[in-house]
Amino acid sequence: MKDPAALSGEDRAVYPGSFDPITNGHVDIILRGAKLFPRVLIAVLENPKKATLFASTERVAIIREIFKDQPHIEVEAFHGLLADFARVHGVHAVIRGLRAISDFEYEFQMALMNQQLNPDLETLFMMPSARYTFLSSSLVKEVFALGGSIRELVPAIVEEKLREKYAEESKSLSS
Ligand code: PNS
Repeated sequence: MKDPAALSGEDRAVYPGSFDPITNGHVDIILRGAKLFPRVLIAVLENPKKATLFASTERVAIIREIFKDQPHIEVEAFHGLLADFARVHGVHAVIRGLRAISDFEYEFQMALMNQQLNPDLETLFMMPSARYTFLSSSLVKEVFALGGSIRELVPAIVEEKLREKYAEESKSLSS
């Protein structure tokens, strides 16, 4: 086994996304990716033009907490093009999860655009466990906001942070 500190960017795959918030479906893909690559770099999109429930700093902090005991799984925020982020980090593989055929068209376009922008970058698609194929961050937020249980769908810290977030929001609405 190589010393992880001595690994180059070539031993890493980047797993990009919005993660607003991270779900068990994302975690499933990250752990599958970590079986194939010595290191996985989770790249959290920071896009001031896209309204998110959690700020990018919050999303990064949540994911770091989830993987705090797995030093081969790193987390960083990124902005701009993924193709450039990968180049700067010397990473040649992008992992994306595919849940259903409906994901395919967008993912296919994105993979080809990234290939155009950075010919050294390959996109690998991975399927999550079948029990997460219906899961998305937006559905998690909707179910939580309407009082449904999300216990089986997200890491415990995400449920905790959603509770805090909605408590903050209802406090600011009532004041
Ligand atoms: O979790 P998401 O929202 O499906 O992730 C989408 C993401 C972050 C992977 C994608 O929007 C992205 O890579 N954005 C960075 C901008 C970019 O590189 N755009 C051109 C590629 S099509």
